[in-house]
Amino acid sequence: MDYLLRSGRVIDVSRKGGEFLDAELDLLVRDGKIAELGKGLKAPAGVRVIDAAGKLVLPGLVDVHVHLREPGQEYKEDIESGSRSAAAGGITTMCCMPNTRPVNDCRTVTDLIMRRSREVGGARVLPIGAISKGLEGKSLAEFGEMKDAGIVAVSDDGRPVMDAGLMRRALEYAKTFDLPVVQHAEDLQLAEGGVMNEGEVATRIGLRGQPPQAESIMVARDIELVEWTGAQYHVAHASTGRTMDLVRDAKRRGLPVSCEVAPHHFALTDEACATYNTDMKVAPPLRAERDRQALLAALADGTVDCIATDHAPHSEVEKDVEFDCASCGMLGLETALCLSLELVRAGVIDLHRMVHLLTCGPAALFSLGHGIGTLDPGSAADIVVVDAEASWTVDREKTFSKSKNTPFHGRQVQGQVLLTLFAGRPVFDPKGLCR
Ligand code: DOR
Ligand code: ZN
Repeated sequence: MDYLLRSGRVIDVSRKGGEFLDAELDLLVRDGKIAELGKGLKAPAGVRVIDAAGKLVLPGLVDVHVHLREPGQEYKEDIESGSRSAAAGGITTMCCMPNTRPVNDCRTVTDLIMRRSREVGGARVLPIGAISKGLEGKSLAEFGEMKDAGIVAVSDDGRPVMDAGLMRRALEYAKTFDLPVVQHAEDLQLAEGGVMNEGEVATRIGLRGQPPQAESIMVARDIELVEWTGAQYHVAHASTGRTMDLVRDAKRRGLPVSCEVAPHHFALTDEACATYNTDMKVAPPLRAERDRQALLAALADGTVDCIATDHAPHSEVEKDVEFDCASCGMLGLETALCLSLELVRAGVIDLHRMVHLLTCGPAALFSLGHGIGTLDPGSAADIVVVDAEASWTVDREKTFSKSKNTPFHGRQVQGQVLLTLFAGRPVFDPKGLCR
């Protein structure tokens, strides 16, 4: 089926030369591709016309940090449920982390993820391969064969690369394959025993904290290694003000250093842990307000390259336990867009910057290929239609994920996805607009 999205506010900030497209336009989708953009387009015969007046029409969102749990932990999530959750959040491209069982550290696992996601057809899934075999931090995985099979970056996410020697080799090796190295920056010795952020709240509620420096000290070390090797380095889920200072300074010096921020880190603080709700437990932990403010400044001034969810589903088995014992991680796919819109309404960033952070920013950073994160005619028709005003209440029982561990349960948010098209096919259409 082909579609004509009529009179939406079409925003695309991917165009070369920095000019932004932001206008009330019609958008024609034919054969799974964006065929034409313009005013007063005629609907060819057989094309379904969808009224998008007053709605945002954006490129499908790109999320470079997702845990899909397949293979091996399908009771938490699988590629199918994760893709459905993504579609409900307007996300059409996801990079999935390798901490599956078995770990994605070789061609076989990468192949399996690629094949499974093609069968499901709910989103574009681009795997990230492991840095070290088995995520054990001892010897490097085979970057070349995983790259052939389709990985777009390497990471040991969930665990840091503690060994500076191994990190040096990883950067050198990744550089020869043009793969970004994504670091889960956490000095395990400094973080030891900490189940939340170290600070006043942890002291008050009697939980062991881990200091923000556990993150920034590792980022500082890594930036030295980047200066040495010249490889592309990306800080996953950056959460502290000091990390932002280091990344800002590295960029100023022209180093290939980038970072992402997760919505939970800009929308919540460690105060959320005060009720011992294990859905608030995440690595890196929710930080103090001072750090959150520094993230907001860095989102605004260009230090942050993209917003990524770190969607990390866990079941009741891992979460319905004491705070100390609970697994780290939160759902994120369905709430990233409405939380990002909060930044716009609060005047932290403008809508164009938000679209950049959620679409072409991450796509360019990870060289995901032409036609991703853009509405350029000829691109795959990955499109999200959003009612930016509509409010709704986040409800853990209504998520499309197999897990329920959202930290935003009960939060009133604004910004509802009305339709998600992936390669021209409706993958989320709660109002039946395409029927
Ligand atoms: O909170 C987290 N959960 N942080 C990570 O880095 C890994 C993730 C997971 O896999 O559950
Ligand atoms: Zn992660």
